[in-house]
Amino acid sequence: MAQATEWWKKSVVYQIYPKSFQDTNGDGIGDINGIIEHLDYLEKLGVDVLWLNPMYVSPQVDNGYDIANYRAIDPMFGTMEDFEKLLSEAHKHHLKIILDLVVNHTSDQHPWFKAAESSVDDPHHDYYIWKKGRNGQEPNNWGGSFGGSAWTYKESVAEYYLHLFAKEQPDLNWENPKVREEVYDLMKFWLDKGIDGFRMDVINLISKNPAYLDGAVREVEKYGDAHQMTANGPRAHEFLQEMNREVLSKYDIMTVGEMPRTSPEKAVEYTDPKRHELDMIFQFEHMGLDGGPFGKFSENRFKLSDLKQVLSKWQTELSAHGGWNSLYWSNHDQPRPVTRFGNDGKYRVESAKMLGTLLHMMQGTPYVFEGEELGMTNAKFDSINDYQDLETFNGYKELTEVHHVAPDAALRAIYAKSRDNARTPMPWNASEKAGFTTGEPWIKLNPNNDEINVEDTLKDFNSVFYFYQKLIKIRHELPVITDGVYQLVDAENPDVFSYTRTDDDDQLLVICSFADHVVDYKVPTSFRDAEVLIDNYDQIETDNLQPFESRVYKI
Ligand code: NOJ
Repeated sequence: MAQATEWWKKSVVYQIYPKSFQDTNGDGIGDINGIIEHLDYLEKLGVDVLWLNPMYVSPQVDNGYDIANYRAIDPMFGTMEDFEKLLSEAHKHHLKIILDLVVNHTSDQHPWFKAAESSVDDPHHDYYIWKKGRNGQEPNNWGGSFGGSAWTYKESVAEYYLHLFAKEQPDLNWENPKVREEVYDLMKFWLDKGIDGFRMDVINLISKNPAYLDGAVREVEKYGDAHQMTANGPRAHEFLQEMNREVLSKYDIMTVGEMPRTSPEKAVEYTDPKRHELDMIFQFEHMGLDGGPFGKFSENRFKLSDLKQVLSKWQTELSAHGGWNSLYWSNHDQPRPVTRFGNDGKYRVESAKMLGTLLHMMQGTPYVFEGEELGMTNAKFDSINDYQDLETFNGYKELTEVHHVAPDAALRAIYAKSRDNARTPMPWNASEKAGFTTGEPWIKLNPNNDEINVEDTLKDFNSVFYFYQKLIKIRHELPVITDGVYQLVDAENPDVFSYTRTDDDDQLLVICSFADHVVDYKVPTSFRDAEVLIDNYDQIETDNLQPFESRVYKI
């Protein structure tokens, strides 16, 4: 079947982190049967697609992003029969399923790597990227994303292998046509089971520039910037076009490529349908607005002016040149949006709804990460030893040992940015284990599940859940949200982010206050008597906006 329909343009995706969603066998780890248990809940929310983080066989060094067998379900999540049941049950609930495709790297426990490291003459050796050292040192100065060098030496072959992430995640050599064939085959294996697409992990890093030059070194860093030297490499488009020709074009599916370091211009090249590559990408520019001198681990707060500028640029550039946006505030790698962009105290509910409004009225395909629809907040664990994520661990170590940041300040940066903020178990109810497990959860719960949980949320018609349900319904009903032209309004306003969406039939005015106090605000005259589609306060005051208020007018 040709990839002709663009159903994903009208869809809303819900991301499930299976390890933390629902445990059904008491081992403290979420599983496939747990997802099946909650399909009614997801259908009620109204989403169209579920993206599942990796559930393949993995040593779990990076929570499943280190894959040792691409064609099998890890027993911790269940069996292939469970997965097939999930797929067919989800389809009965009108929910499509997309899987994570992690093919920039494998696990070092994958049989390919085991063979590759055994001998330079093994046919699998060239499945990975090996280099001789430079004067007895690493081949270049690149650092791995989780700390340390991006190169590890193997005695057995007297060479270094490249790993842009942890040393247990060796990068595949996409220059080798056999590697590409293997990848296309495993993609077909899952697509032939009937899945509806892929989220492709760091897929713009697959083509490395053959020069392997040193990367820029920031003042405080020891290692050079490897992503700068590998993102959007010389053959990236060629490889994706080949993948499209060999695999994607034969199925009616959706694809989203995770692409750090990608500009809107590049994103258009990846997503313009005429070029036959991917449907959309995840960009990171708005996620980078609160970094600090030591990178992501900082307590810095974003500036609203930057957020307006960045999101507006992506809206206008992609639509002007035939690309397509994905819209997200959070995922399994990012802190919780109410804490990061809103207010997780007094105005938690209002700001969660406001952020939902801002994102869901934009052009693109929105993604909701599990718990976002409850307005979940960041979690603060007492000790660094309570954290499970290797990036968090290594980040803390680097802050305290290399940059000599005081432990309490380092921990505050972890509170703000750790990936584990997103990975605490889904709170289904207010009980001690939150209804997530009967055993010991693999990671601590967010202790506020007595206040924020599904059971209570569903009883409260003013909850974030029902607000998201309404936002999704409005998107499904109003074509202007999919197709309308985006225009930023009142760019200089220091408190309010507002924009219009316009097509031949309708015009929407979206107003979102980021202030924690009342602000003066005159609705433009043309909208004064317009219908209010959705608002996060019961009473609208004509000449001001209440804290974190959001409104959508339609004429
Ligand atoms: C991006 C994934 O989202 C993240 O969780 C993972 O650690 C890296 N890619 C490496 O696979």
